[in-house]
Amino acid sequence: MGLNMSSRIGVLIMLFFQICSVSAVTDVSDFSALQAVKKEWKNYPRNWKGSDPCGTNWVGITCNNSRVISISLGNLNLEGKLAADISTLSELQILDLTSNLQLSGPLPSNIGNLKKLVTLNLMGCSFSGSIPDSIGNLEQLGTLSLNSNQFSGTIPASIGRLSKLFWFDIADNQIEGPLPVSDGTSPGLDMLLQTRHFHFGNNKLSGNISEKLFSSNMTLIHVLFDGNQLTGPIPENLSLVTSLTVLRLDRNNLNGNIPPSLNNLKVLEELYLASNKFTGILPDLSNLTNLYTLDVSNNQLTLSPIPSWISSLRTLSTLRMEEIQLSGPIPSSLFSPILLQTVSLKGNHINATLEFGTNYSRQLEFVDLRNNDITGYKPAANSRIRVMLADNLVCLEAENKLSSFCNAIQQNASISIPEINCRRCGKGKEPNPSCRCVYPLIGKLDFRSPSFSGYSNNTNFKQLQQELSDFFENRNYPVDSVAIRNIQETTEYHLLIDLLVFPRGEKRFNHTEMEMIIFMFSNQTYKPPPIFGPYIFKAELYDELSGGSSSINMGIIIGASVGGVVLLLLLVIAGIYAFRQKKKAEIATDQINPFAKWSTSKNNNIDAPQLMGTKAYTFEELSKCTNNFSKANDIGGGGYGQVYKGILPSGKVIAIKRAQQGSLQGGLEFKTEIELLSRVHHKNVVKLLGFCFDQSEQMLVYEYIPNGSLRDSLSGKNGITLDWTRRLKIALGSGKGLAYLHELADPPIIHRDIKSNNILLDENLTAKVADFGLSKLAGDPEKTHVTTQVKGTMGYLDPEYYMTNQLTEKSDVYGFGVVMLELLTGKSPIDKGSYVVKEVKKKMDKSMNLYDLQELLDTTIITSSGNLKGFEKYVDIALRCVEAEGENRPSMGEVVQEIESILRLAGLNPNADSATSSRTYEDASKGSGDPYGNESFEYSGTFPGSKLEPQ
Ligand SMILES: *[C@@H]1O[C@H](CO)[C@@H](O)[C@H](O)[C@H]1NC(C)=O
Ligand SMILES: *[C@@H]1O[C@H](CO)[C@@H](O)[C@H](O)[C@H]1NC(C)=O
Ligand SMILES: *[C@@H]1O[C@H](CO)[C@@H](O)[C@H](O)[C@H]1NC(C)=O
Ligand SMILES: *[C@@H]1O[C@H](CO)[C@@H](O)[C@H](O)[C@H]1NC(C)=O
Ligand SMILES: *[C@@H]1O[C@H](CO)[C@@H](O)[C@H](O)[C@H]1NC(C)=O
Repeated sequence: MGLNMSSRIGVLIMLFFQICSVSAVTDVSDFSALQAVKKEWKNYPRNWKGSDPCGTNWVGITCNNSRVISISLGNLNLEGKLAADISTLSELQILDLTSNLQLSGPLPSNIGNLKKLVTLNLMGCSFSGSIPDSIGNLEQLGTLSLNSNQFSGTIPASIGRLSKLFWFDIADNQIEGPLPVSDGTSPGLDMLLQTRHFHFGNNKLSGNISEKLFSSNMTLIHVLFDGNQLTGPIPENLSLVTSLTVLRLDRNNLNGNIPPSLNNLKVLEELYLASNKFTGILPDLSNLTNLYTLDVSNNQLTLSPIPSWISSLRTLSTLRMEEIQLSGPIPSSLFSPILLQTVSLKGNHINATLEFGTNYSRQLEFVDLRNNDITGYKPAANSRIRVMLADNLVCLEAENKLSSFCNAIQQNASISIPEINCRRCGKGKEPNPSCRCVYPLIGKLDFRSPSFSGYSNNTNFKQLQQELSDFFENRNYPVDSVAIRNIQETTEYHLLIDLLVFPRGEKRFNHTEMEMIIFMFSNQTYKPPPIFGPYIFKAELYDELSGGSSSINMGIIIGASVGGVVLLLLLVIAGIYAFRQKKKAEIATDQINPFAKWSTSKNNNIDAPQLMGTKAYTFEELSKCTNNFSKANDIGGGGYGQVYKGILPSGKVIAIKRAQQGSLQGGLEFKTEIELLSRVHHKNVVKLLGFCFDQSEQMLVYEYIPNGSLRDSLSGKNGITLDWTRRLKIALGSGKGLAYLHELADPPIIHRDIKSNNILLDENLTAKVADFGLSKLAGDPEKTHVTTQVKGTMGYLDPEYYMTNQLTEKSDVYGFGVVMLELLTGKSPIDKGSYVVKEVKKKMDKSMNLYDLQELLDTTIITSSGNLKGFEKYVDIALRCVEAEGENRPSMGEVVQEIESILRLAGLNPNADSATSSRTYEDASKGSGDPYGNESFEYSGTFPGSKLEPQ
């Protein structure tokens, strides 16, 4: 694998010449190491050319002072072996090759030379052979993820020397042998006092778990040993690790009694002991008051009644005690823990009548008591609990035989958030929530021990979808939104969710962008809501050449036997019938109340997710948070109605636009408008948070933008000084927002009332286009753009539109041109009888400095700014926008490009975030390896995608 001596010299000579001619900046030995690594690979990034990886920004490579410090190449379909030369990259801190299924062969035995390595992430490749002993020399290592490969051999004891190791994941391999512990001479896993995660599931680990492995000095929170061949009893010392929140020992060959001392693990949330050979009776675990999941199924316990202490586990959500010889009746208190969702007690000797009484969890969804001796059933009143009683005496009775609770088949919930009902797209493409066909990054989130089990209440999934979208948005990733599909539970009780990450603006992510996203997951920087527990993300191939993901398989894989197929068909037919009936009913309700399906009070909130997180508020809620729409909360108004500031109980500040009686639209029209607005997502467009259609009111709820309108700032009302640079950035921001509405929103939107009052400034002075009260879809064939009534504001109104009633995007461009001029003069466009467009044209003299317009300029510009770089160009483009004929005006896309080039002339970065501050990804680079805890584990490397950041 290594280069032999003469070819190495050859490379050096070549390099020497290249250094002379190209002035390479990459360290010579780092380059030759990368070159050797590249030589072993197929499908490496296309820009891996030349001899200066640092200077020419090779995809996935990050450098510092000419040295390679990070290699991050997730999901590129790399193929080949990892060359031993990698170990000469002595400054390397991150090596992340996540999800390259065709990377194979052993890990180089000298990997331990990478003394500065902090993150080694090889999840989801096909590496094989043993984990090299030298790995114990990586003394800075914090994250070691070797999961989902084909590693074999034993766990090297040397790993015990990794005193900074935080995350240790070798799950889903073929690793065998015992869990090594120290013995005075050789190290062991018991020395890993900083480690929070032992994820060893689904290997071939064997032998007893040593008492020595655990001590009170450890800080473990997840111990996942499930799916191995471990033997012997659970060590008593495990109960000393009181930080544990998840303990999975299921599917091993453990035996002996379940130790009562487990009751000391007071913060334990998940306890899986299923499918072992435990004997005796289940000890009292009533002190585990944080427990969500208890699974002790399939053990050889002694015949005994259902323990009464179960009902004192107040947070219990999932209880599985299948096939453990439980006998006697079900105590009615069993169903009382208020979060209880799933109870499975199948295959026991439970008898008597099943009764829920009145004291049962309102979250309860699923009770499986198949194959017991139950003789009667009294359903809970008005509940949606799915009860399964097949193979009980009660189902032998003629009257029950056909009841649904005697059906032996379990069904899967199908959940899609948001629901995307668009036309199908071509191969590899998927419609995003605005129905644009793009190439999403698709992958599976694999949650290894979620602490909930009811999937028909999709609140948790909505929260996950929302938090993920917010996560990307808050960090300014080029992500439009995310969607969740096809939720499945595996037989090992993993929760698998398909995740689609849609690109923003472009049709696809480029490599760098994809790496950023993958890294956020592989480094566990993204933390899901705690209820989801530990996770990994496995991306599908994302190929820049052939398009998006290959072979997208969104269908549920159903492993049905032939008999099952027939049943399935019946179910499908029944399903279609039910669906038709429901549709009929829906059409009927639609005509009465178009929002029936969005109703917040009902739990069938099926349609609402289509609205991308837009919430339906009641009149009471909005009235309350605006102090009854008081004068003090009134922050302005217009033809449409008043705008109020409100504060939600969560503390979030909102702006509410309340239509006045005369401006009410028809319900369906209003609904269409909300659907349209809820799809609009852009940094420079004010975001719709919700709406109210209640008590004959129509209100729109927007995010509150603290610094008010551009008009306020120009008039000096709010004390913000707008120097030349800020004005340029505001022009750019609002231009981008408008360009988005015209060119990227789907369907496109014409604003119709662009003016400085409708451009708001947030705390960073980022401009946001507001007020779509008058918006109309562009290209709406029924409207043919001829409107009966000209709408807009004098001063900004496109004269062509005024005369012809022909509305096009170019009318907005006119308004925008006026705003650009207004930014120069600071005055309203019509001020004391003079019109800014006319004034500028009249006064300007192209042969003079600043076109001789100094006299018209807002004095603030002159006093607060130095050189007005790009001024003339700015005036040129503004005047093109206010050309008399629409066809002579530029498109907003062109305007944005022009303003960007002006910013560059002025020595500014047009991609910086806002008018004042420039955000960096600093927060994003603080990777914590822990999806639950609050620890902030940080690595010192630079985030590999840092070249993307606005500077
Ligand atoms: C725990 O740490 C303390 C202090 O570092 C040490 O004295 C003690 O021996 C350790 N206990 C175990 C069980 O390792
Ligand atoms: C639960 O904890 C309390 C005090 O923390 C203790 O007195 C009690 O014995 C414990 N219960 C069991 C069953 O161990
Ligand atoms: C139910 O099971 C218990 C325990 O096995 C037994 O004592 C009782 O007689 C059974 N009751 C009925 C009605 O079969
Ligand atoms: C990828 O996209 C980003 C913008 O999101 C851009 O800055 C970068 O240059 C692109 N990289 C490549 C290799 O095209
Ligand atoms: C769904 O779950 C959430 C929290 O998990 C809960 O607040 C809500 O009441 C549940 N909804 C229904 C209809 O059970």
